[in-house]
Amino acid sequence: MSHEREFDIIIWGASGFTGRLVVEYIFKTYGNTPDLKWAMGGRNQAKLEQVRAEMADDSLPIVIADSQDDASLSAMVKRAKVICTTVGPYAKYGSKLVAACVAEQTDYCDLTGEVQWMRRMIDQHHKAAKANGTKIVHTCGFDSIPSDLGVYYVQQQAQQQSGQRAQRINMRVAAMKGGVSGGTYASLSNVMEEAMQDRNIYKTLTNPYGLNPAGEDSGPDKRDLQAVVYDKASRSWIFPFVMAGINTKVVRRSNALAGYPYGKDFRYEEAMMAGDGFGGRMKAYGAAIPLGLMVSAKPGSLLKRIFDWLLPSPGEGPNKADREAGFYKFKLFTTLEDGSTAMGIVTGDKDPGYGSTSKMLAESAICLAKDELSSEGGVLTPAVAMGDALLNRLVQNAGLTFDYQVK
Ligand SMILES: NC(=O)c1ccc[n+]([C@@H]2O[C@H](COP(=O)([O-])OP(=O)(O)OC[C@H]3O[C@@H](n4cnc5c(N)ncnc54)[C@H](OP(=O)(O)O)[C@@H]3O)[C@@H](O)[C@H]2O)c1
Repeated sequence: MSHEREFDIIIWGASGFTGRLVVEYIFKTYGNTPDLKWAMGGRNQAKLEQVRAEMADDSLPIVIADSQDDASLSAMVKRAKVICTTVGPYAKYGSKLVAACVAEQTDYCDLTGEVQWMRRMIDQHHKAAKANGTKIVHTCGFDSIPSDLGVYYVQQQAQQQSGQRAQRINMRVAAMKGGVSGGTYASLSNVMEEAMQDRNIYKTLTNPYGLNPAGEDSGPDKRDLQAVVYDKASRSWIFPFVMAGINTKVVRRSNALAGYPYGKDFRYEEAMMAGDGFGGRMKAYGAAIPLGLMVSAKPGSLLKRIFDWLLPSPGEGPNKADREAGFYKFKLFTTLEDGSTAMGIVTGDKDPGYGSTSKMLAESAICLAKDELSSEGGVLTPAVAMGDALLNRLVQNAGLTFDYQVK
């Protein structure tokens, strides 16, 4: 939506671990000028002033809104073209904000990976947002931009270079270095807690097409990898990728929302590579076992309390040196319609969850506010909402690369 509003963007949650990185990135990259009018948002004036002093300067406006206060949310969303939120767990704090954005035709982007909550937002708001042209875009961080735009890019290249669709893509995380924040761990814990209480949520999480439009929730893909196996295509032992349950569903939703340009028979899956031989096998088990324990730890159990103690609390996350030293590389093993193969590669600098994520989210918000996009509204994916415009921004400004080679 393009309205004249006081701000192009409000970064809501600016006092949190990720929010302050988004503020730092936008201020350093774009400043605070009439070309990009933006503000910091949150619930605590003193904390926000502290972040502003560290990351920006006094010229940056502060907007106060609390997730539980409808009037404050409504007042906030009326002031901006785009709300960019890092207030999570989103299932706890985000629902009223999405409703307010749809009601006021304010575009929206976030960092959620909470599939059960995205399903609720789709069911509650897709129709109205489509009707009034508001873009609600979840998953604008490490989950799921590299996957969603990686597949979008590979499909585009396959058409341009071979005149065919990519009929199958197996994404393998070839390299990744980074840490976890308290906010992300709290969000993951909340997903598991809700899934254990509600069978429908469990069904959504385990259905490969759990984020597809109603009535279009089936296809050739099976559940995400649950074991350690040898993968011939990548000549590597592979094990489950914790983000696969989010990313693969987002990619399938992109395909469905766009009218199946990847084909109704398109197959997609994700896993982590651990290398070849005995060493690779041991590495895969060494990573998969603690991960399996973490996601299956029951709320209140001793195991869950141990993980709570080991992992960061909300507001905490990897330090600057670790963020700077981080990176990731995805290999997209691609099979075209005629059986020939190709390789897509997506890389990002800085640690995936925070250094790279804060840049991806910031560029998504700027893209929604400033770029020429289709007028389509709804609860969309990054690829459907922003496509080429976001791809270009990520390459030019946010340290991502996209490559495609026919074998
Ligand atoms: N997709 C990805 O790749 C990715 C990467 C990183 C993070 N995330 C997600 O992003 C979210 C934030 O993570 P984080 O580590 O930055 O969390 P965090 O440090 O705990 O920050 C949470 C923010 O939410 C604010 N907040 C909490 N309750 C609020 C309320 N009632 N009203 C308004 N604001 C409220 C906090 O404000 P106060 O400071 O006032 O408490 C803080 O600014 C999490 O859901 C996480 O899973 C996703």
